[in-house]
Amino acid sequence: KARVAVLISGTGTNMAALLYAAKATDCPYEIVLVASNNPDAGGLKLAEAEGIATFAHPHKGLSREEHDGIMHEALIAAKTEFVALAGYMRILSSGFVEKWEGRMLNIHPSLLPKYKGLHTHERAIEAGDSHGGCSVHLVTAELDDGPILGQTPVAILPGDTADSLAARVLIAEHQLYSRCLAVFVGRETSPDHLVAQVRERALSLPEAD
Ligand code: GAR
Repeated sequence: KARVAVLISGTGTNMAALLYAAKATDCPYEIVLVASNNPDAGGLKLAEAEGIATFAHPHKGLSREEHDGIMHEALIAAKTEFVALAGYMRILSSGFVEKWEGRMLNIHPSLLPKYKGLHTHERAIEAGDSHGGCSVHLVTAELDDGPILGQTPVAILPGDTADSLAARVLIAEHQLYSRCLAVFVGRETSPDHLVAQVRERALSLPEAD
């Protein structure tokens, strides 16, 4: 099975969804590590109780590169092949992204390319969109960019608040992430080929202003 590490900062419900899906005997991945920049992240306790190795190191007082270096060492020590960001609320250094390029996925609570960054549900409601949703994508140097592996639209209801919409989108996230991860790691394409594809795409993007 493919060895997946999950990075979290908070509650970790997406991590839990990935972990429970991994219990199916035909799941092509296993979770080998749950790591966090927040030692108090609720998800760490859940992972521990499920017998998964955990690692936490606060980022306070460290440069982005230093903290990412520590996380990278933990990933390597766990013989990680793929990284799943699941509510990991840190912007990653370009060095870290490069090391995991083509092997690192993220889930984002919007229908990308709409609403990169924070407050996605609020922005979708304010814009009068008919749907919010979630996207799973490969991580590239650009924030919430990178090839999209899957998306689920979620209808916005009259009277929805950012919280009520977020709660429904989260249900969709849990299903989408485990499915996308399973399909992605199960692909016959070698990781090296994927890295090449991601690089090619990054190079073909117009320069940012
Ligand atoms: C999820 O909704 C995820 O999409 C979002 O944070 C939440 C984490 O919840 N991620 C981002 O906003 C990343 N920019 P969880 O800890 O319960 O999985």
